[in-house]
This record gives sequence, C-alpha cells and structure tokens, in this order.
Amino acid sequence: MPSNRVRLIAGNWKMNNDVPAAKELAEGLVEKVPVNGVEVVVCPPTIDLACTSHKLEGSSIKLGGQNVYWEEKGAYTGETSCAMLKSVNAEYCIIGHSERRDYFHETDEDINKKAKALMAAGIVPISCCGESLEVREAGKHVEFVVDQIKKDTEGLEISDPSKYVIAYEPIWAIGTGKTATADDAQEVCGAIRATLVEIFGEETAAGIRVLYGGSAKPENIAGFLEKEDVDGALVGGASLVAESFAAMVEKAGE
Ligand code: 13P
Repeated sequence: MPSNRVRLIAGNWKMNNDVPAAKELAEGLVEKVPVNGVEVVVCPPTIDLACTSHKLEGSSIKLGGQNVYWEEKGAYTGETSCAMLKSVNAEYCIIGHSERRDYFHETDEDINKKAKALMAAGIVPISCCGESLEVREAGKHVEFVVDQIKKDTEGLEISDPSKYVIAYEPIWAIGTGKTATADDAQEVCGAIRATLVEIFGEETAAGIRVLYGGSAKPENIAGFLEKEDVDGALVGGASLVAESFAAMVEKAGE
C-alpha cells in the first residue's frame, strides 16, 4: 500500500504537572526536541493547556487536549468544549484512552461523538483503542480492537486522512514497563489498517496514522517504527522528561 504518512510522536502527560511544572517541561521541550520532519504533539492536562500553548509559540511542537466534550457549551460542569481547545490553539485531542474508558466509563458511542465534534471543529482526534490482558490471553485481541475501531469510526467522514489518528495501546503494556513486541504491535496495527480499508477505502486508509502506545521509550521506539503499519507513538511516562521525549523524536526522524 503506498504511504505518505508523516510520523507522529505524541506525548500524553496524563494527570501530571501543575502549571509551573508544565511551563518548565514545555521550555525544555522547545529547547531539546529536534525539528526533523516528524510531527510532534504534547497533550497536557486541561489546566496546563493555556500556559503550555504560550510556551510552545513559535516552535514546531503542537498542542493537544486529553479529552473533550461534544456539546458546544452550557451546563456541563467540569467539561471542555472543542471551541475552548481551539482558543488555546490545540490542534489535536486524545479520545477514548483506556484510562477514561475504565475509570470514567467512556463508551465507544461517546468516543464516536467526540470524534465527530472534534473533526467538525477542525481538531485532529487521536482515538485510542486496545485490549486488556484478559482479552489478549484469550487470543481475542484482534477481534476486540477491530470491533472498537468499527464502533468508534461509525458514520465518520474523513476527507483528509492526515486529520484522523488512531493509537493502539494494549492496556497491559501501559505504565507497566511491559511492552508489546514490535510484532505484537504490527499484528494489531495491521488489522486496524485492514479494517480502515474496509470502512473508508484503500486511499483514505493508507493516509491514516496508526500509533503504538504502552511503555514506549527511547530504547524501544525504533523497533516499533520499523513496522509497516506503525506510524508513530503515543507516549506516557517517557513524555514527562524533555530529554527522553526529544530522544524519541530524534529516533523517529532517522
Ligand atoms: P506509558 O508510556 O506510560 O506506558 O503510557 C502509555 C499511554 O497510555 C499513552 O497514552
């Protein structure tokens, strides 16, 4: 399949860094992250978006949210709208992270609504999927993830495939230090691509980036990126240290 996909390294800070710490990390990233043709995004907590945006101004590093609500405005205490994300120049937003699915009961239907709202607002969703250890041990991981993809993309219209991103994050590899092997990642990312071909056709599917996430770090990222259907990484822990995140961007550019 022909590919013109630009590699993407995205950092998910999760619930880490208060405002002073976010500013410091953003400064470190601006200084250390190389400009090498790799697309780079950082996704701080909502409270840090404005100050991080300010620090990233003039750099090549882009900003993303970690979550969004699909309604435009109103009585939705604690939520953040697409317009609010746009107002701080966020160009990306993670949706459907397994932590949000597990701890905050987000469903595939919610994730689908979030994707539609973001795309209508011109923000690129980074839509997460991935199986639990139990599902993997039962050998049903491919089937499980394919089902998530079908539900999460239902009714989506993708005119520019570079504006929709999928992140495959096996839950058992998140924050555990247990990484999937590059072959494990390719098996599922390849199945995701095949599902995208079924849904959107060959040309669109060939342009959608599929990232791997789960204990990705400078030492193992190259192996994932060698695989045909892995176009980058969604990085948790290693994105909290400017040097290691910069090293991953460096490797992705080689
Ligand atoms: P770790 O890189 O800390 O395993 O987290 C992965 C992740 O969940 C990124 O969204």
